[in-house]
Amino acid sequence: MNKSEKFETNCIRIQAGRSQHKEHSVPVYQTSSFVFSNAEEARDVFAEIAEGHIYTRYSNPNSDEFIQKLCALEGAEDGIATSSGMAAVFLSMIAILQPGDHLLAPKQLFGTTYLLITNVLSRWGISHTFVDCRDTASWEKHILPTTKMIYAETPSNPGLELIDLKWMCRLAEKHGLYVVIDNCFATPYIQNPLKYGADLVIHSATKFIDGQGRTISGAVLGSRESIKDVKLLARIIGPTMSPYTAWLLSKSLETLAVRMERHCSNALALAQYLEKNKEVEWVRYPFLPSHPQYKLAKKQMKLGGGLVSFELKGGIKRSMKFINALKLLSLTPNLGDSRTTITHPTTTTHSKLTSEERKESGVTDGMIRIAVGLEHIDDIIADIEQAIKKT
Ligand SMILES: Cc1ncc(COP(=O)(O)O)c(C=O)c1O
Repeated sequence: MNKSEKFETNCIRIQAGRSQHKEHSVPVYQTSSFVFSNAEEARDVFAEIAEGHIYTRYSNPNSDEFIQKLCALEGAEDGIATSSGMAAVFLSMIAILQPGDHLLAPKQLFGTTYLLITNVLSRWGISHTFVDCRDTASWEKHILPTTKMIYAETPSNPGLELIDLKWMCRLAEKHGLYVVIDNCFATPYIQNPLKYGADLVIHSATKFIDGQGRTISGAVLGSRESIKDVKLLARIIGPTMSPYTAWLLSKSLETLAVRMERHCSNALALAQYLEKNKEVEWVRYPFLPSHPQYKLAKKQMKLGGGLVSFELKGGIKRSMKFINALKLLSLTPNLGDSRTTITHPTTTTHSKLTSEERKESGVTDGMIRIAVGLEHIDDIIADIEQAIKKT
């Protein structure tokens, strides 16, 4: 199908071509490799002068369909499906950075990305500076002659702090830097970083793109030019996606728009409820007027997203008691699931950071992160209310 102007139609109608069986729903192409009709065809496909699949580590009809769809949703020309979100993060970094290069990133980052920058990139002589994402005035001061990339996520995990994408891409353009954005919390339904001039967008497709907590998966997307090296590296190193995962994710994308609408309306309702509850110390949600970057959120994001962070009065002890008193919500580190999930970042997703690093990245000891699911909002709030009352 040709690309539509409409997000929802692209989610559903971008499909791999039908086989001779004329199936309506695309099958799983569970094959390691593809056959050639003759030696000349094999030679030409390998030489990339003829089209065709070779080997599933390189490409497969299922991952192609998934990527074509995601490209249409993100406004990208090309991409690569990866075996995890972290594989996507890593590929996007090592495709661009060389020993001696410097990376600039906000302090407000997913814990494993933070560790990748501090513990892994550093081993290969790639240095970094973390800057407060809200302190826009200080970013330029930290750009060195060796700075090559700005890497950021917006909204951030778990503090839900934002980066002004327009401002960041302009800054990067002024200094000739690459911009890589993790768009996992917003999804392409809410914002498209490439439209502002980002070079690459990465996703942990494990989250809202899957939407039902069944896979570990990711993607890197961008212009044909900017994705070229990422693809080459993925083919050589091998963290590409299995056909079955790609098939599942392409099916998941069919419902992305409707799911995001409900995730976001439920999350906003929960954030408003928490803000009124006297037992709550603070609540963070991009579309609450009390969010310090509310104006930016309204300008940059179509909806507020599916995550809410908050803290109860009484700190970490009360957070643990509260979590233990929940009956409906799932205590699990994943997010973007149809089931509402809850996490205590300090003791889980961000536990490998030092307390100083957590403080720097805005993770308070008592912080609770809820990834609001698709259950009826009354049931989600009722569970939270009964658990607060028990603590
Ligand atoms: C913002 C963000 N980026 C990247 C990742 C890594 O994704 P994955 O777990 O699929 O490797 C996560 C995982 O939680 C995340 O929250």
